[in-house]
Amino acid sequence: MKILDMTFVQGFIRMADDGFRMGWHERNGGNLSYRIKPEEVEMIKNRLKHDGPWTPIGASVPELAGEYFLVTGSGKFFRDIKDDPEATLAIIELDEKGENYQLKWGLVEGGKPTSELPSHLMNHAVKKRVTNGTYRVIYHAHPANIIALTFVLPLEDEVFTRELWEMATECPVVFPDGIGVVGWMVPGGREIAEATSKLMEKYDAAIWAHHGIFCAGEGAHNTFGLMHTIEKSAEILVKVLSMAPQKRQTIQPDQFRELAKAFQVELPERFLYEKK
Ligand code: 13P
Ligand code: ZN
Repeated sequence: MKILDMTFVQGFIRMADDGFRMGWHERNGGNLSYRIKPEEVEMIKNRLKHDGPWTPIGASVPELAGEYFLVTGSGKFFRDIKDDPEATLAIIELDEKGENYQLKWGLVEGGKPTSELPSHLMNHAVKKRVTNGTYRVIYHAHPANIIALTFVLPLEDEVFTRELWEMATECPVVFPDGIGVVGWMVPGGREIAEATSKLMEKYDAAIWAHHGIFCAGEGAHNTFGLMHTIEKSAEILVKVLSMAPQKRQTIQPDQFRELAKAFQVELPERFLYEKK
């Protein structure tokens, strides 16, 4: 089957283009990856190359040995993905140790997978384990409101989660486990990948201070929806903080507890602290 006709490829391209149109991907900002199902690899295997060099990932992910990924290319613009997927995207295979990758398709004008490949793959490894293989998408974006909040809120999981939950009643239902925060670090390496993947053990979203956010999910639809919900809530918080230093009224801890009961979600008590 033609690679560009595959449903997972079309969903990936649509998601990238939606993200661009949301304004989350200036220039080459952000990156996206999908862990391809074995039956999908089977359907396209006659259209993949098998003779390229093996290149170090920059991290070790033995849990993902032999798996295939669709990823965005480093330095490629999200704006171009829809019109030129073969030049902006790549399919890669990992070796039997999970330490090197081989290019199987894409990047026809040259290039390599996203510089955040260590973070993507380490997050995939964690999510594959903790969700029993159901999560397949890792998405990194640069949404302005989330980034703006990292200049004014304390960089604590509890504070970001609680403040974002308060901004929209749907938030605790969409991300009941909360959101993690990583302080500023150099992007593109193993260290930030380790810090992020540690947060992915318990959260589906991890904010990178003064940089952006990573979201994880089962498919393109849900993962985009999570990013969208978090950024919308961040936008409301930016508006509120711009209008007044203090909220006049908000959703209270007991109201979150009522919501949890009604929607059958568990909200960890550490996010429902009393404010001074
Ligand atoms: P890439 O172009 O290498 O994917 O990098 C973009 C980015 O957002 C880095 O954090
Ligand atoms: Zn980035």
